[in-house]
Amino acid sequence: MDGIELFSIQETPEERVHDFIPQSFDDYIGQQELKEKLKVYTQAAKMRGEALDHLLLFGPPGLGKTTLSQIMAHVMSVGIKICSGPMMERTGDLVAILSSLNHRDILFIDEIHRMPTNVEEVLYSAMEHFRVDVIIGQGAGAKSVNLPINPFTLIGATTKTGMISAPLRSRFGISERLEFYCEEELRDIILQAAAFLKCSITPDAALRIAQCARGTPRVAKKILRRVRDFAQVANRDIIDLAFVEQALTFLGMDEDGLNKIDNLLLRTIVDNFQGGPVGLETLAALIGEDKETLEQVYEPFLLRSGYLEKTARGRQIPHKKLPYLKKKFFGQNTLL
Ligand code: ADE
Repeated sequence: MDGIELFSIQETPEERVHDFIPQSFDDYIGQQELKEKLKVYTQAAKMRGEALDHLLLFGPPGLGKTTLSQIMAHVMSVGIKICSGPMMERTGDLVAILSSLNHRDILFIDEIHRMPTNVEEVLYSAMEHFRVDVIIGQGAGAKSVNLPINPFTLIGATTKTGMISAPLRSRFGISERLEFYCEEELRDIILQAAAFLKCSITPDAALRIAQCARGTPRVAKKILRRVRDFAQVANRDIIDLAFVEQALTFLGMDEDGLNKIDNLLLRTIVDNFQGGPVGLETLAALIGEDKETLEQVYEPFLLRSGYLEKTARGRQIPHKKLPYLKKKFFGQNTLL
């Protein structure tokens, strides 16, 4: 089994079909503070019969931004259209979507920071005045007409707030960050997903998967689906801790919750650079990954769990972790 596929935090078609999607805030586990706020905002907008203020959700991928938005639409009894920034190549693509929205609908744009600038500019008057400019006709006779659209709510999701332009950012009335999940929350998400998949798993086995899930529900559910495949083929009715341990080993995950690529990355820094620092590009070239994948998929967990640190001169292994990793990779028990 290839570690990259398993730990990719991008959403896959498989996931869309097989996933449990909570319909209410109560079914959505974790993000407690954010949930409380969103409950109030959605309820207030519903009571007034108005569209909710535009909302910017930021945070690492796989934490449930789309799911939360779907719940908000459900709670407010409005429609939701889901699309992504890079998908909208021309202004006409966005104008077509905006014109199709019903009163108070939600438009969810994932990776909103990757929307082309000219398309982004269409959003400004749409968000502020609920109007869009449409070009009618061609060539010298072309005219720009300013048309009204239904009041709607834009939910923009981004992993990179720094890349949202100031004019766009200032048009969001609410801006909130999603946090990584703790192991107990992930355990409960796994138990909920397992019940949906009609798959029996013990709480300690679910917790073991949670420990390998990098604080991310999407990763937790992906590992669950792979472990369930093993259980199916092994004719297991109940997934217990011992079975999960076997499956994790087979999937290339070690007792630290690290996969093959994580270990290759750390081992390269220990072995070739005595613990670093080393530049991101050099590291990416040595392990055969592109820079963006390293930064977005592998590094966040390694940084958070203290296996890696970023310095002005590049990536390095923190001093405290170096002896442990030397022993792990080379059976060496010294600081040298
Ligand atoms: N299912 C239940 N809670 C969830 C969450 N926080 N994120 C994704 N899926 C979930």
